[in-house]
Amino acid sequence: MILNNPKLFVALDFDTLEDVKEFGQKITPEKCGVKVGKELFTLGGPSIVEWFQNKNFDVFLDLKFHDIPNTVKKACYVASKLGVWMLNVHAMGGNEMLNAAKEGVDQSNEDPYLIAVTILTSMNNKDLNDIGIMHSVSDEILKLAMNVASHKLDGIVCSANDIRDIKAFLPKNFVYVTPGIRLNSEEQDDQKRIMTPEAAIQEGSNVLVVGRPITRSKTPDDVIEEILKRIS
Ligand code: C5P
Repeated sequence: MILNNPKLFVALDFDTLEDVKEFGQKITPEKCGVKVGKELFTLGGPSIVEWFQNKNFDVFLDLKFHDIPNTVKKACYVASKLGVWMLNVHAMGGNEMLNAAKEGVDQSNEDPYLIAVTILTSMNNKDLNDIGIMHSVSDEILKLAMNVASHKLDGIVCSANDIRDIKAFLPKNFVYVTPGIRLNSEEQDDQKRIMTPEAAIQEGSNVLVVGRPITRSKTPDDVIEEILKRIS
């Protein structure tokens, strides 16, 4: 599936459903989608996805499925049936699992973007070596991304810093979903490799995932406006 214009997704990393719903009143679906991750989904389940969908927000269901092929196929099927805009699996699940994920989505008769996480941005070369992977992070990301593309998934989650080295080896319409976005370099938080929205788009990102710079602001809509202005 081709994604023509870059899109902004707000990571809804809140501790309570009250807080996330209060926040949901301050943003508008014309300007951004929302990302529901493991914490919020465990707290609110499909109801919180529906709550945002009823307000017309596109939902990126960031549950990063990683299991035996049959389980992932069924999980992708039911996630697609929720009508989400995007969902994801771990590329490390292997060929059969990637095929199964695609089958699950295809059988749902829905049409979400199906993407895969390559190497988590919290892992470095040593972390990989510790679990027996002797490639460097960048070599491993390329290997995994090429594998994801060969199974006809739509794209990957990666750092915007990674795109430059891998883009030439991947399909033209491949979707790059990039967290670790900061409006200025002083606000790094726990992200190790950050980039500004405009730089990320210039590198080739299609979907910007931004959490705290928006969610901790008293005027989130203003921050969203600024990001949209900077990437337009
Ligand atoms: O607050 P911040 O902008 O750092 O949030 C980024 C979001 O993207 C969080 O929900 C985080 O879990 C997610 N994420 C990430 N790095 C990845 C994959 C997902 O930061 N590699």
